[in-house]
Amino acid sequence: MDIEKTEKTSSPFYLPLLFDRLATKYEKRNQCMTLGFMNYWYKEYGKFIVDYTAEIALDLCCGTGICTEIIAEKVALKKVVGIDFSKRMLKIANQRKHKNMLFICDDVTHLPFENESIDYVSISFGLRNVQQKHELMTEVHRVLKSQGVFICMEITPPSNFFTLFLFKAYFKYVLPVISKVFFHEKELYGWLSQTALTFYSLPQLVRFISSHPFTIKKIKRLNWGIITLIAAQKNHY
Ligand SMILES: C[S@@+](CC[C@H](N)C(=O)[O-])C[C@H]1O[C@@H](n2cnc3c(N)ncnc32)[C@H](O)[C@@H]1O
Repeated sequence: MDIEKTEKTSSPFYLPLLFDRLATKYEKRNQCMTLGFMNYWYKEYGKFIVDYTAEIALDLCCGTGICTEIIAEKVALKKVVGIDFSKRMLKIANQRKHKNMLFICDDVTHLPFENESIDYVSISFGLRNVQQKHELMTEVHRVLKSQGVFICMEITPPSNFFTLFLFKAYFKYVLPVISKVFFHEKELYGWLSQTALTFYSLPQLVRFISSHPFTIKKIKRLNWGIITLIAAQKNHY
């Protein structure tokens, strides 16, 4: 094990600074790395959440606020609060125009909200990055009202053998080359590769969410299972 690397990545400053460095290039580079599929995924996210309404909604790990804006348009009647610990990602999010959005700089594993005060909590391409995943789910459960909704959109290793082979090859070999040659970056995309390759498969993600008091309501898979959308409801006592 590379102890120096492990110590570095587990520092509380590592990730916020990493995403700060990426902020101004985040959306353009994602377009390039996802071969333009990114827009399709957010469009599908918009369709997936259209049945829900919320007075107050949260968008955890909101980044530059792409999903926050979709939630403001489709779900939130009063307010959607985007939370992220990267100040520079939030600076870009704050340039978005929808009036029902508010952005807060904080760690999503300690949500600054009262118990049972929120109707809808969403996290897109964020869960993979959060190291204290159980703490996060405990917080989501605490702030959600009874029968409130939790939505997660994430990169998941596909189940089909051939697609999984391509998925691993892309993150292990292709992405590092793209990032070195085109973006002159090693560290940022090393983190992305590492988290994508080690994140839960769909059955594991379902087990993880269900190990907290939530019931899975809806699942949608995109691009041969590389992207998963899950809706879960907080259990009613
Ligand atoms: C891959 S980006 C996703 C951004 C956005 N949700 C989207 O769909 O484009 C992950 C974001 O999670 C944030 N993040 C990771 N761990 C976090 C934590 N513990 N608390 C707050 N933000 C976190 C990072 O700063 C980054 O902006």
